[in-house]
Amino acid sequence: MTHRSDTLESFLQATAPEPTPLQREMAETATELSFPIVGPVAGAVLAQVTRLTDADRVFEFGSGFGYSATWFVRGGATDVVCTEFDEDEVQLGRELVADAGLDERITFEYGDAMETVTQYDGPFDAVLIDHQKHRYVDAYDAVKPTLSDSAVVVADNVVRGPLDFETLAAHFSDGTPLPSQEEDEGTWGIGTYLNRVREDDDSETVLLPVGSGLAVSTVTR
Ligand SMILES: C[S@@+](CC[C@H](N)C(=O)[O-])C[C@H]1O[C@@H](n2cnc3c(N)ncnc32)[C@H](O)[C@@H]1O
Repeated sequence: MTHRSDTLESFLQATAPEPTPLQREMAETATELSFPIVGPVAGAVLAQVTRLTDADRVFEFGSGFGYSATWFVRGGATDVVCTEFDEDEVQLGRELVADAGLDERITFEYGDAMETVTQYDGPFDAVLIDHQKHRYVDAYDAVKPTLSDSAVVVADNVVRGPLDFETLAAHFSDGTPLPSQEEDEGTWGIGTYLNRVREDDDSETVLLPVGSGLAVSTVTR
């Protein structure tokens, strides 16, 4: 039996923008390597967000070989800083991006994203947080001083994945406590991140259930 959500997912995938040759190659590589990428529907949202806000400079926490970065470029970004602490991913990303002639627009920084972000002053117009869930809050706080006045911060993996959504839903509807970091690092990480951005007077956040789920926060200061 086909579930309604399967039908919806197929519909969303079928109506997503046609991938570029590089995006197609990267998606095939991700499938071969069982590597988690944002996918074409969430990727297309990144492109739309970039286009709608005229975002130019982008910082990514956790880039793999650069699939999500290609969507920011597709939306018009000219300078995407990718961060990745897996050397093989960085190497592959640099090769793929150079072969596609995008190495002037997409730069790979090898190392811990939390360290790399301290080396940039910004301003950044768009940010993707897609690394370790327990570090999402720290990533937001680290990048916040570098945000331009019209910036958008997108966090991935907020509605799907190995998370306890019943507890998350209860937490945000009636204040049920989150599990501790030791009990469930992913659920704790996403829950504390959503609390952080929702309580931030300088931004407003909405969740989009595309791909693994995007939390989109726009600067309102
Ligand atoms: C979900 S994948 C990123 C996918 C990518 N955003 C895309 O959609 O194409 C997460 C990546 O973050 C990397 N990562 C996790 N924690 C990191 C950190 N602290 N610094 C740098 N890279 C990190 C992992 O090695 C992994 O390749």
